[in-house]
Amino acid sequence: MLKIEKHPILEVPKGVEVTFLYEGKQVTGEKGLTIAAALHRAGYPVHSHSVENRERSLECGIGKCGACEMLVDGQIKRICITPVDGVKEVKEVPHNHTPEVEPVNKEISTKVYKTTVAIIGAGPAGLACREMLLERHVENIVIDNNEKIGGQFNMQTHQFFFFEKEKKFGGMRGFEIAKTLAGENHEGIFLNSTVWDILEGKRIAVKNIRTEEIYFVEADYMVIATGAVPFMPTFENDDLPGVYTAAVVQKMMNQEFTLLGKNILTVGAGNIGYLTSYQLMQAGANVKAIIEAMPGEGGFPVQANRVRRLGIPVMLSKILIKALPNKKHDGIVGAIIADCENFKPIPGTEQIIDGIDTINICTGLVSDDQLLIKGNEVFGRNCYGAGDSIRIGEGTSAVLRGKQVAFEILQALDIKYNYDEFLAISKEYIDSNSTHSGL
Ligand SMILES: Cc1cc2nc3c(=O)[nH]c(=O)nc-3n(C[C@H](O)[C@H](O)[C@H](O)COP(=O)(O)OP(=O)(O)OC[C@H]3O[C@@H](n4cnc5c(N)ncnc54)[C@H](O)[C@@H]3O)c2cc1C
Ligand code: FES
Repeated sequence: MLKIEKHPILEVPKGVEVTFLYEGKQVTGEKGLTIAAALHRAGYPVHSHSVENRERSLECGIGKCGACEMLVDGQIKRICITPVDGVKEVKEVPHNHTPEVEPVNKEISTKVYKTTVAIIGAGPAGLACREMLLERHVENIVIDNNEKIGGQFNMQTHQFFFFEKEKKFGGMRGFEIAKTLAGENHEGIFLNSTVWDILEGKRIAVKNIRTEEIYFVEADYMVIATGAVPFMPTFENDDLPGVYTAAVVQKMMNQEFTLLGKNILTVGAGNIGYLTSYQLMQAGANVKAIIEAMPGEGGFPVQANRVRRLGIPVMLSKILIKALPNKKHDGIVGAIIADCENFKPIPGTEQIIDGIDTINICTGLVSDDQLLIKGNEVFGRNCYGAGDSIRIGEGTSAVLRGKQVAFEILQALDIKYNYDEFLAISKEYIDSNSTHSGL
C-alpha cells in the first residue's frame, strides 16, 4: 500500500499532513483525504473483525455498506468517507460496544426542505434530469453523498467512449466531463449528503456526512439515480483484506491517491477489468495477469489492446477459487485459479498465481435499487428510476434515461413539452440499450 506521488493524468495535490492515533500508534494522514487512505498507506488495512475473528477491510469504499465502521473520537463512523481533518483517535469498534444515546436537543429543529422533484444521485442520470426540469422551471433538489458532482465519472481517468452523438465531450476524460455536467449553477444540489430512508408522507431522510446534520426533503416526485454497486463472486477467502472490488480500487487510487497494492491480479476481462488494470499501471502498480472465466473477452477490443500493449497477459477460461492469505491474515500473497467450463472449475487444473498482494475484482455491476424499492412503496407512481440504478449501461444511456424521466414528470405535472423531442430521446435511449454493451 502506498501513496501515489505522481500520476500521468491526475494532478496529485500537495497534501497537508496531520496525525492521529490508531490503536495507540501515531499515523499520518493528509487533510481532505479519508482515514481509510491514511490507514492503508500506513499498512493497517484491517478495520474490524468478524464474529469468528476474521480480519475485515473495505468492501464498497463509497460509504454504502458499513464494513469500514470504526470508532472515530468515540463515535462510530465509516472511515472510507470520513476525512482525517480534526481527527484525534481511531479505534476498532469492540463487539460489545453500545453507542451512547445522545439526548435529543429540542431547541434545535430539524430542517425540512420542500420541493417538487427530489433527485437522488448527482451522476449523469440525475443531473440530466435536473437540467431538463430546470429548463421547464420545475423546482428540484439533487442529493448526493459525494463531495463533488459527477458520480461514477469522477473515478475515471480515461477518455470516454460513446458518450454522446454531438461529440461535445470528445476527447474528455471521465473526471473532466463530471465537472461540466451541472453547468455553472449548482444551486439546489446538496452534496456530502446520504439518503438513508424514505418515510411515510413522501419525506426523504438525509444525513450530511460531514456535519452530521440530519434533515428531511419533502417532494411530490422522486427520481432514483443512485447508480450501481459491484458484483462480488464467492470464492474461498473472498473476505480477506487484499481482495477488493474495482470500485474500492478505483476510489482509493483515483480520488485518494492511494494504491492498495503493488502487484495485482485482475479478475474479469470486461471493460472494467481492462480500464482498472490500465489505470493501476498508470498509477505505478504492476498487473500480473487478467483472468476471465468465459472463453472469450467481454471488453471492447480498443480496451483489450491497451492492456496487451502493456504486456499484461489475459488468461481465458480461468476461474478464481481461492485467495491465499499472508501469515497475519491481513493481506494476501497469492491466488489459486483453475481452468473452468461454464464457471465450474475443472479438477486437476489448479494453478497458483504467486507474487501478488491484491486481487482486483471486476466481475460486473449490479443496479443499486434499494431506494427504488422503498421509493416505489412510498411515492407509488411518482417514483422514477434512471441510469445504472435500473439498468447497467454507460454514460449516454444514463443521460438519455434521465431526460426521459424529466419528460415523464412534465407530463404528470401537466406542463407542456415538445412531444417529438420526447419521442426522439426515448428512441435514442432504447437504441443506446441495444447497441451499447453494458460495462
Ligand atoms: C470502470 C468504469 C468505466 C466506465 N467507462 C465509461 C466510458 O468510457 N463511457 C461511458 O459512457 N460510461 C462509462 N462507464 C459507465 C458510466 O460511468 C455509468 O454508466 C454512469 O456513470 C451511470 O450514471 P448514473 O447517474 O446512473 O450513476 P452514477 O454515475 O453511479 O451516479 C450515482 C450517484 O448516486 C450517489 N448515491 C447513491 N446512493 C446514494 C444515496 N443513498 N444517497 C445519496 N447519494 C447516493 C452515488 O454516490 C453517485 O454519485 C464506466 C463505468 C465504470 C465502472
Ligand atoms: S461503507 Fe466504507 S467500505 Fe463500505
